[in-house]
Amino acid sequence: MPNPDYKLLDSQLYSLLADEHDALASAANFVGLLFNALDDINWLGIYVLRGDELVLGPFQGLPACVHIPVGGGVCGAAVATGETQRIADVQEFPGHIVCDAASRSEIVVPLVINGSPIGVLDVDSASLDRFTADDQQGIENLCRTFCSLQAERDRFI
Ligand code: SME
Repeated sequence: MPNPDYKLLDSQLYSLLADEHDALASAANFVGLLFNALDDINWLGIYVLRGDELVLGPFQGLPACVHIPVGGGVCGAAVATGETQRIADVQEFPGHIVCDAASRSEIVVPLVINGSPIGVLDVDSASLDRFTADDQQGIENLCRTFCSLQAERDRFI
């Protein structure tokens, strides 16, 4: 399956968000842009860090679990470690939280603004091993652009 042109997508993201001052609207448009740009995905959204849990934010896909403890599931592991989790087969991940039973692989990228973790971007696919190292690099870069555009805010969402 063809990868999107991540460089082009990054400049589209920048144009879409550069003049927008509302964090919620920016997050919703970030999710909408990516969901439609990536092939073969069934869920894409943001979980926002609130205290010691992640809370469901803007997303596209089926309704999903709302509260995820830090350290729980793939999303909680990403926020606890500060490292992207690229999981080829979610059924092999201990503690994976099933939201859409169709999901087979997943990538979760921590979102960090001004050095502070503020949540994660979660992308799911119904295909095994959907996400390549190139996807990881491209999606991480998009997350960095998104976060850098939120850097002036006192709080996120
Ligand atoms: N699978 C995730 C939960 C979120 S849903 O996939 C939308 C996890 O294990 O953290």
